[in-house]
Amino acid sequence: MQKKEQMYEGKAKKVFATDDPNLVIVDYKDDATAFNGEKKGTIAGKGVINNVMSNHMFQILEKQGVPTHFVEQLSERETLVKKVSIVPLEVIIRNISAGSFAKRYGVEEGIVFDDPTFELSYKNDDLGDPLMNDYHAIALKLATREEIEQLKTMAFKVNDVMKAYFDQLNVILVDFKIEFGKTADGTIILADEISPDTCRLWDKDTKEKLDKDRFRRDLGGVEEAYQEVMRRLMGE
Ligand code: TMP
Ligand code: ASP
Repeated sequence: MQKKEQMYEGKAKKVFATDDPNLVIVDYKDDATAFNGEKKGTIAGKGVINNVMSNHMFQILEKQGVPTHFVEQLSERETLVKKVSIVPLEVIIRNISAGSFAKRYGVEEGIVFDDPTFELSYKNDDLGDPLMNDYHAIALKLATREEIEQLKTMAFKVNDVMKAYFDQLNVILVDFKIEFGKTADGTIILADEISPDTCRLWDKDTKEKLDKDRFRRDLGGVEEAYQEVMRRLMGE
């Protein structure tokens, strides 16, 4: 598949056109940002790990009946995916209190919820991705009621599949953010990435953080944490 002009560059990935109008190539970078781009850095080898891990997770999810944008991995950092228009809503599922949830509601991290929570943020860097409820998203015509119900059903399914998968790797899936896209015919599929950038992953025994919180909070051992997740995923 021929890589053509760059269509878009985000904080962690670039997107390129191909000969096929329905397919694009994503190219994962080592760049890392936090706090809406205020903190910048690089995590050596992150692009490779996030590419391989996302594709691994997308294939597991496809097998469990969740449609995704994944088509074919082309290289260490590049993957062919279905072209979608991204629904500008970040969908966040939480199993355990952490991060902005703990801060917003003034609770400690680590409270295990009886049921997972569902939350939406408006994907808008200028506004700092504000938290939003379903009525707000519908009022702003970011999605219809039916589409939001579909996002919710798919997100909980993703959580069920990933929680069980990580559990057998001795990893707790604390929370994660996913994004969905619409294909030319309006079908909603899982897009973007699933990686230590977008999930909170804690070692089951030690509760050690194996995700981007190590970068966000200057905990050290950032590269090692990404490599450890990769090692467990690949069953080494
Ligand atoms: P939060 O607790 O900071 O709201 O993060 C919830 C989850 O979403 C966590 O797994 C990290 C992920 N996340 C992203 O993928 N991108 C972001 O920009 C933010 C703020 C969080
Ligand atoms: N990726 C987000 C940003 O740059 C934040 C995060 O993952 O914490 O701001």
